[in-house]
Amino acid sequence: MNDLDLSNSRISLTDHTINVLLVDDQKLIGTSVGKMLETEKDIEFCHCLDARRAIHMVNKFQPTVILQDLVMPHFDGLTLVRLYRMNALARHIPLIVLSGKEDAKIKAQAFSLGANDYIVKLPDKLELIARVRYHSQSYISRLQRDEAFRKAQIETEKREREAAARNAEKIKSEMLARETKGQKQFIDAFIKSIVTAIDEKSPYTGGHVKRVVNIAIMIAAAINKCQEAPFDHIQFSDDELEEIRLAAWMHDVGKITIPEYIINKATRLEAIGDRIHLIETRFKLIEKCWALAHEKSKNDNNLTDNDCLNQKIAELHDDIAFLKLCNLPDRFITEQDAIRIRKISEKTFDLDGIRHSFLSEDEVHNLSIQKGTLSMSERKTIQNHAELTLKLLNKLPFPNHLSRVPEIASGHHETLDGKGYPQGLAGNQIPIQTRIITIADIFEALTARDRPYKNQ
Ligand SMILES: [Fe+2]
Ligand SMILES: [Fe+2]
Repeated sequence: MNDLDLSNSRISLTDHTINVLLVDDQKLIGTSVGKMLETEKDIEFCHCLDARRAIHMVNKFQPTVILQDLVMPHFDGLTLVRLYRMNALARHIPLIVLSGKEDAKIKAQAFSLGANDYIVKLPDKLELIARVRYHSQSYISRLQRDEAFRKAQIETEKREREAAARNAEKIKSEMLARETKGQKQFIDAFIKSIVTAIDEKSPYTGGHVKRVVNIAIMIAAAINKCQEAPFDHIQFSDDELEEIRLAAWMHDVGKITIPEYIINKATRLEAIGDRIHLIETRFKLIEKCWALAHEKSKNDNNLTDNDCLNQKIAELHDDIAFLKLCNLPDRFITEQDAIRIRKISEKTFDLDGIRHSFLSEDEVHNLSIQKGTLSMSERKTIQNHAELTLKLLNKLPFPNHLSRVPEIASGHHETLDGKGYPQGLAGNQIPIQTRIITIADIFEALTARDRPYKNQ
């Protein structure tokens, strides 16, 4: 092999030996030519005695020069010269006609059919070797030039294919990036609209989630900047920050199933409306009933006691005032309070011949809530939102880099002492990302002025 420099690339080319094919029906000529060439180590020699096998031998031996006799049985040499030039593989192989005589006419004919040279046999050894070398070198150069051209073409095509593949890959990744960005924007917008709808269900919590997201991101960024223990070894990557941001957006998504009246329950008796007004109306009705009964009794000339009626009405007023106090969220219901509520409920009044209690069982139950406005079952319903957040988010096919969103989002009511919910995790079982959202959630609740359980 030798190397050829073509533009920017080095191309390795095949080294060729000089292959001499003699087509001559005389054995003696073959022996003589063979002897002349045998001293030349870089020259291979092949003798074809039968003109009919000449083309076959050309294909098989691949000569760099052909020595062609003119007078042979079956074929004359000039016919073979024409056949060589018609054959694709032999067309360009240099051809030296070996003639028995110097004849200008035959010589001219041979050249016109495509011969490259003409020698009268037997030539001088030196001359034969010189001519063989001259024609072979020229042919070998041609072979190498064609080979170099072919290889350069292949190289160029390969480079073009690689460039096209790179270009296609670039376009593909740009399209993918655009598509991913579009999908991300869509998912973001979708999440925000769902969360905003949940937030806006309540006149009190509007904007809660958005504020929790902002606070959580601020805490995470501050941890990233902090060089002091225990945060010096914590560095959230962009993907992890995105995970915290999405988890914060979705931390209360489970509230979607909580009835509005529980989320907004501002007093112990609140349901669709505040039922204290119903009790007030009922007590006014009781008062009216008593007054009417008293009047009727007077008209029937029965003995009636005004003082007694006034005392009953005063007690009634006192009871409703007490119940109104018990209905307020910041009132702690003591055992005595609960006993008095129960006693009030045991009182009855008659209306249209039917006896009614002052308070229903449900009213007693709600008014007796010791602390806050929520009953145990309502508190359970509210707490269930964290479990539902986990359930809902676990159904979403988050990509790998966001796979912890359900875990981070749903743990925001866990506490370090293991008394939180939904799973009762403790200490290190609660990831730092969850703790960030928990702190943001509590901070937001403490600083928001519009919660139903706070004094306005
Ligand atoms: Fe929550
Ligand atoms: Fe929250």
